[in-house]
Amino acid sequence: MSETPASVPESPATATDAPATAPADQRAPRSQDGTARPVTPGSQAAEGTYRAQPVSFVRRGTRLQGRRQQAWDDHSDTLAVDVPRHIADTSVHPEYVFDAEAEFGRTAPLVVEIGSGLGDAVVHAAMENPDKDFLAVEVYTPGLAQTIQKIVAKQLTNVRVVQANAPEVLSTMLPPGSVSQVWVFFPDPWHKSKHNKRRMVKDTFAPLVARVLVPGGIWRLATDWSTYAEQMQQVGQASTDFTNMHDGERTGAESPLTEARLSGVDCEQSEDPDAVGGWAPRFDGRILTSFENKAHKAGRVIFDLAFRRN
Ligand SMILES: C[S@@+](CC[C@H](N)C(=O)[O-])C[C@H]1O[C@@H](n2cnc3c(N)ncnc32)[C@H](O)[C@@H]1O
Repeated sequence: MSETPASVPESPATATDAPATAPADQRAPRSQDGTARPVTPGSQAAEGTYRAQPVSFVRRGTRLQGRRQQAWDDHSDTLAVDVPRHIADTSVHPEYVFDAEAEFGRTAPLVVEIGSGLGDAVVHAAMENPDKDFLAVEVYTPGLAQTIQKIVAKQLTNVRVVQANAPEVLSTMLPPGSVSQVWVFFPDPWHKSKHNKRRMVKDTFAPLVARVLVPGGIWRLATDWSTYAEQMQQVGQASTDFTNMHDGERTGAESPLTEARLSGVDCEQSEDPDAVGGWAPRFDGRILTSFENKAHKAGRVIFDLAFRRN
């Protein structure tokens, strides 16, 4: 079993989510006669995220052992959001809506981290911001268990985890306008061109983020792959729901894209300076995770982006 989340999937041909084999209590709601509820337009949309479009992850390492299993057994009841499932064990039933006030027992700004990995960033941010609530969205079971271990060790009451496919969390689970920030840090890059379609941040993703953010809310992104960074920037820039908070900033020699092009470490080497810019400074609320560290060691450049919901 891999002990780290899928960072750079190399064999995505098997990238399908598990079929509806979840335990009975995780399956889609059923009518009184035991038959599954009819497929609704909403559920069709959710199914589309699994069937019509590829998901952005490969399920692997779903079994837990030792202390992680113990942490999951002892604390998932209180720290993991209990989501009714639909068509797969990381799906979200389209009729389920998350109630943050009931979950946290208070009203506070909600920050959602998508693909929270081992939980380092979200746990650190929750410690630094006791006045905010945090929801860590992740599909990788050992990562979620490690996040729970960290939440318990730090005695945090302002973090919950949810094991779910992020587009479904954004499209139906979270109420519209209920989130103050959405963070997507180091999503799986799917850097081979034949796999680019699996990238999470694409044109269809921006409306989902826009849906959950309050007006003025912030969408923060970070990546260590220059082609994905350019794609993220184009997605945010093209959306009429968002304004780039650093439009035109860090061009030419100041630009991380110029730096990546000069090094040629993850793209074709070129001396073309980036004339567009639009890159944010490093978000100081983002702790250095093992993924970012690996990127530094490999000589890749880090890109930050920040978009404000109009
Ligand atoms: C490269 S890791 C980065 C983890 C973390 N953000 C960090 O910086 O350390 C990307 C994570 O996104 C998760 N992921 C990928 N697609 C997802 C999806 N559709 N829904 C939820 N999590 C997803 C993966 O399981 C993986 O843990």
